[in-house]
Amino acid sequence: MSLAKVFPPKSEILFEQYQKLYRQSIENPKEFWGNAAKEHVDWFRPFDKVLDGGFEHGDVRWFEGGKLNISYNALDRHNPNDLALIWEGDEPDDIRKLTYGEVLRKVCKIGNALLRKGVQKGDIVTIYMPMIPELAMTMLACARIGAVHSVVFAGFSAEALGQRISAAKSKIVVTADVGRRGGKTIGLKDIVNDALTKLDCNSVIEHVMVWERFYNAESSASPPYEMKDRDIRMDPLVAVQRPYCPPVHMDSEDNLFILYTSGSTGNPKGLVHTTGGYAVYAKMTTQVTFDLQPGDVFACVADCGWITGHTYVVYGPLLNGSTSFMFESTPVYPNEGRYWDMIQRHKITQFYTAPTAIRLLMRYGDEIPKKYDLSSLRVLGSVGEPINPEAWRWYYEVVGRSKCTVVDTYWQTETGGHIITNLPGITPMKPGSCTLPFYGIDTVVLCPTTGKELTEPDENGNFQGVMALKSPWPGMARTCLGDHERFLTVYFKPYPGYYFTGDTVSRDKDGFHFIIGRMDDVMNVSGHRIGTAEVESALVAHPAVAQAAVVGKPHEIKGQSICAFAMLTAGYEESPELIKELRGSVRSEIGGFCNPDLIVITPSLPMTRSGKIMRRILRKIVCGEIDSLGDTSTLADPSIVETLIEKVEKL
Ligand code: WTA
Repeated sequence: MSLAKVFPPKSEILFEQYQKLYRQSIENPKEFWGNAAKEHVDWFRPFDKVLDGGFEHGDVRWFEGGKLNISYNALDRHNPNDLALIWEGDEPDDIRKLTYGEVLRKVCKIGNALLRKGVQKGDIVTIYMPMIPELAMTMLACARIGAVHSVVFAGFSAEALGQRISAAKSKIVVTADVGRRGGKTIGLKDIVNDALTKLDCNSVIEHVMVWERFYNAESSASPPYEMKDRDIRMDPLVAVQRPYCPPVHMDSEDNLFILYTSGSTGNPKGLVHTTGGYAVYAKMTTQVTFDLQPGDVFACVADCGWITGHTYVVYGPLLNGSTSFMFESTPVYPNEGRYWDMIQRHKITQFYTAPTAIRLLMRYGDEIPKKYDLSSLRVLGSVGEPINPEAWRWYYEVVGRSKCTVVDTYWQTETGGHIITNLPGITPMKPGSCTLPFYGIDTVVLCPTTGKELTEPDENGNFQGVMALKSPWPGMARTCLGDHERFLTVYFKPYPGYYFTGDTVSRDKDGFHFIIGRMDDVMNVSGHRIGTAEVESALVAHPAVAQAAVVGKPHEIKGQSICAFAMLTAGYEESPELIKELRGSVRSEIGGFCNPDLIVITPSLPMTRSGKIMRRILRKIVCGEIDSLGDTSTLADPSIVETLIEKVEKL
């Protein structure tokens, strides 16, 4: 990485201050986080201990003895007249603005409605909703009464939703009649109905609570969808509740939410986040990474179905008393200027999106963003995958007019908030690098074979290896719901003494991190984290498929695209109809966002003699890197490689 690419901070003094504070936070984490927790969060009862437990048993706990409520911190303590949410729906003229006072009263009413229907502290409430303000408010209402929310992205299919409801043993599902995206209407309530027919017999759904997008108390005598006994209309129920609901005094380590994410197996992991540590971490990272100032309009255009939406649409901005901008639509609806138009109209100060969206919009040329007044912007954020220097420069120069900071924030569902990122005006920027660790985050690069910290740089002066963390931080997930062993196996056992991120990194001589990509079987497609095993099991769910192997292939806009290889069951023949059916199977088992770009029907798969599929070879074949296939002699049938190369070339 040449020095010419470095954008120095505005002030060297601030950079030195960062380095000093960073060192202190690592040398004395208890003092650092103890102070941070007192500064950023209001506690009903002060905590007795900053940190206890560790990685070995995965029994980390932060701020023990402390009592708090995150909805209280996000709502009650702010000026009720300030704007909390600006929402823009699918259509650009569909706008709602809600003050902190209005949000607090509605959250209280929703909390009371949930209590009324029997939801108790610790119950898991599944939320399957479009990006409307009621989604954020339902999450906050759960937190207010001590219920644990499990938001399932509304792009997931009935099958995937049902699986997540069963796994969480959720008794309540909150949904909406419809969602809207890109001018299309999606019948979410119908999908929930469908999901509930697929639950295993141990699941008992007591209520499905339905928000109605176009509810009108005067005109809607009967709901516009099929009502079942278990269904409850949310709008009229909420309307009659008391607009105050006392916040439950939660223990710092009481569960706040679970969020399912993809890993190496087909079975999604329900990561558990707890209250105190997450509140401190969400509050502080939002403020520091985005240089939040009073009066800012902070726009994170992620969906609340993912961790980015949890931390940087709902909790982070509201804990800071900022105005959070919530967006339902897509970057290209009704046209490719949508983001820029919103920035201009709402005077957005921070804009946070994924590289895949930047690359997509870059394709439409510089003229489109140039038409808009983007002078309100101060910080541009990137998240979800490495941002290539070309997209970085476009974001910086064309969107930010070379005046804004681009923060490349590296983190994961598991980490709760940013763990590596530059800080506006404080740390230097290097395009393509997420730069330096956040305070209190002790990053290390491990040798993949020995598991030891690398001490010798490679010939380019870089340290390349496994991205790992050496000590706990408040925002980290605490367990996998109902399977603590899995939590230990995935994150702490691969490299004892460290938290294993699953990513490969290259750290340069200045200590700057360049994330290379996942080491495990997780793909990153248009900012969505998708397990190869999930797509494989969706394909095998079709009777025609005997065995499937899925790999990711680099894609100019999406980051990666999904390439699937399927071996057919005897009696089935390859045909365009079958390929269509297989796509249908992926759509119905997981969701349309996992549609493979390529499906290759093959007589067999490259397997070792012990039956292990060699995905490495498939990856090389789809990338056209057939000169560097490596050793294929361990394959049970090496001739399959030729067949596959021919097939892929023809497609
Ligand atoms: C990748 C999203 C490079 C990484 C917040 C990680 C990134 C996975 C970046 C987590 C970044 C996220 N640069 N790679 N700035 N941010 N990733 O759980 O591979 O959906 O492990 O969380 O996204 O994805 P997840």
